[in-house]
Amino acid sequence: MTTVDSSVLPRCVQAATLAPSLHNSQPWRFRIDGGAVRVYADAGRRLDALDPSGRELLISVGAALFTLRLALRSRGWTSAHVLFPEPDSPELVARVELTGRAAPSEAVAALAAAIPLRHTNRRPFTAAVVPADATEELTRAAADEGATFTIAGAASRNAILGLGQVAELRLRADGGYRAELGRWTGPRKGRHDGIPPTAIGPWDALERLPIRDFGLMHTQPWRTSERFEAHPTIAVLATRGDDPPHWVLAGQALQHVLLVATRLGLATTPISQPLEIPEIRRLLTDTTAGRWAQMIIRLGYGPPAAATPRRPLAEVLRVDTP
Ligand SMILES: Cc1cc2nc3c(=O)[nH]c(=O)nc-3n(C[C@H](O)[C@H](O)[C@H](O)COP(=O)(O)O)c2cc1C
Repeated sequence: MTTVDSSVLPRCVQAATLAPSLHNSQPWRFRIDGGAVRVYADAGRRLDALDPSGRELLISVGAALFTLRLALRSRGWTSAHVLFPEPDSPELVARVELTGRAAPSEAVAALAAAIPLRHTNRRPFTAAVVPADATEELTRAAADEGATFTIAGAASRNAILGLGQVAELRLRADGGYRAELGRWTGPRKGRHDGIPPTAIGPWDALERLPIRDFGLMHTQPWRTSERFEAHPTIAVLATRGDDPPHWVLAGQALQHVLLVATRLGLATTPISQPLEIPEIRRLLTDTTAGRWAQMIIRLGYGPPAAATPRRPLAEVLRVDTP
């Protein structure tokens, strides 16, 4: 049996909680049991109006799972994980077991250093082009997790932006969506989840970019209107299937891509509205090529973005005493 210092696994779980999640819902729980960490989905934190199937919930948990594995590796531990190890417990998403010791490479250390630096950036980006060697690295990061990452050419980028605008308007017209958005962006007193005003970003003066409007339900008088980049870099993250294991895989790939981007000095915005309306998601999915769109990602160079809060570790972690 692998013996590990009792502070290591809680610290790695703490790092995992810095992962991105839909509306910062943090829909995860962890349980440490000897040299293993169980990662659970917290169905009570699913967004019923926006994400009835739980696809985005599992993408969020997948992002936390990737972060946990990376944090372990950066502390010199190798691990193996099994997805959905107990068929009768679908809420148990993964069991991560320590398998041994190995010094982390410089690349692993640099990627892990990006964990606390990665933030969703909803501010205007500069006109600077994302270089080809950066997009190649991002493509490799997605491929390492079994997903595809494709930068949209000019024509498909404009089509995606158009579909995003339609999706944003359709969602805004839905009372259930607005009520849910209001709950995750509401008053902040004593709250460690949801989207704080500092993370909302300015309005897109021309409303071209489908950046989710987190200021819709609670007016922010200080919010300015700004001009966003005219030619955004937009990528599509896709998987070869579309079921719970593929959603977890998409989340791991998403976080791998976002962390590589952070390490390269790139700002990122996940954009999911076009994938939240089934008819629009079908237009972005090519089932004959085996590519189910799981996330749209905007990339570029921008001013720094603010961190969002996380729930205290004690709320999400249970440690079993041997
Ligand atoms: C499945 C998923 C969907 C998301 N969709 C959007 C989105 O449509 N628009 C957006 O601005 N951010 C989106 N995000 C980013 C989250 O809002 C963000 O991760 C969360 O608020 C925590 O903030 P952080 O990423 O800065 O840590 C998404 C994240 C995930 C994991």
